[in-house]
Amino acid sequence: MSEVMTAQRKLHVSKMAENLIGSEIIKLAAEITQRMKQGEKIYNMTIGDFDPKIFPIPKKLEEEIIHAYRNNETNYPAANGIERLRIAAQHFIKKHQGLDYDLDEFLIAGGGRPLIYATYITLLDAGDKVIYPVPSWNNNHYVHLSHCEKIEIQTKPENNFMPTADEIAPHIKDATLIALCSPLNPTGTTLSKNSLQEICDLVITENNRRSADQKPLYILFDQLYWTLTFGEIKHCDPVSLRPELKDYVIYIDGLSKAFSATGIRVGWSFGPKQIIDKMKSILSHIGAWSPKPEQVAAAKYLMMDDEVNSFLSDYKNKIQQRLDSFYAGFKMLQQKNYPVECIAPQAAIYLTLKIDFRGATTAEGNKINTMQDVSDYILDEAKIGLVPFYAFGSSKESPWFRLSIGTCSMDDVKNSIESLERALNKLKF
Ligand SMILES: Cc1ncc(COP(=O)(O)O)c(C=O)c1O
Repeated sequence: MSEVMTAQRKLHVSKMAENLIGSEIIKLAAEITQRMKQGEKIYNMTIGDFDPKIFPIPKKLEEEIIHAYRNNETNYPAANGIERLRIAAQHFIKKHQGLDYDLDEFLIAGGGRPLIYATYITLLDAGDKVIYPVPSWNNNHYVHLSHCEKIEIQTKPENNFMPTADEIAPHIKDATLIALCSPLNPTGTTLSKNSLQEICDLVITENNRRSADQKPLYILFDQLYWTLTFGEIKHCDPVSLRPELKDYVIYIDGLSKAFSATGIRVGWSFGPKQIIDKMKSILSHIGAWSPKPEQVAAAKYLMMDDEVNSFLSDYKNKIQQRLDSFYAGFKMLQQKNYPVECIAPQAAIYLTLKIDFRGATTAEGNKINTMQDVSDYILDEAKIGLVPFYAFGSSKESPWFRLSIGTCSMDDVKNSIESLERALNKLKF
């Protein structure tokens, strides 16, 4: 075959790979980063990550990581994670959530992502159905990777964008998995005790209905942000509320968001041993372990209760300060009759915002027709980057946005609100 023909030849790949769609969030963030590199000042609130200069990892964790490298802790870790880290994770969830799990019911991996993927491909055959709320983070991609089918529940602002038992019930007979996340990325809202109890009860009833040779209905419970709840909000989880669900719930947890440690890559799952063992086998073939020095360090750090509590208290204060200030700023804009609404912050590092000025005209005489026009105007005129909810599965015309405070200084809060007000002020309604 000639070189020319080789160059032109389409290299066919699997249908799964061919049809994989990239992350909308990463695409948007990359565009903004590119503009910032070219010198444009943009308040970039698109990233679900932390600026380590503003939100560094805990000092003691950093010291232990360095120490572990110097101590030559650099060979393969055990496939399910080093025992000391499983003991520490067990201690951490027992102390903070009151949950009792055996050591062999834990699996350590390189963050939450491989554990979510492993849960999907452990539980689901091609064509099996997964129920998940929309907007939510990345379930559409995990559905695609695992060749299963999605049942999306379009959630409502009046429910803080959380799914309800009534919304889930009509689909439950067909499903193998319900993927829940609380606190939720992108909304920063949480499942209330009552709502979660009602969903759990649905699952219990459904599993009682299914015969022993049928696959049961499982819950994937992603609680990556669970340490970050504010004010009166209390994190709740399925097994604490309904212990009889223990055989059917796989928890996803880790350091990434709880300790501002997204680049450290330490996550853990806990759940029924039979499922966790399968997940371990799958991930050991992929090699998605958490690096051993980080495991050794996290194992020590999570046992330092006073250090952990004092870190969490400072860290949460800083996050809450930013969320509350943004909320106050957007409320002020709403009171001045600008077309802005905001859901009171409950948890995580996100604020849910509605900005909708479709129908308005810019100072240059351009009509704002679509939500894409709204986003473009916010970015071009107010210099604020937000992630529209369509990036999390909502419709293209959803007027809701995610604002992340992870890279934002207190000055950024004030300046970006002022910048938005100036931009809104230029519009003719
Ligand atoms: C809800 C949720 N779960 C899981 C993850 C993945 O976490 P990790 O970085 O530990 O892979 C993220 C990351 O943004 C997330 O928002």
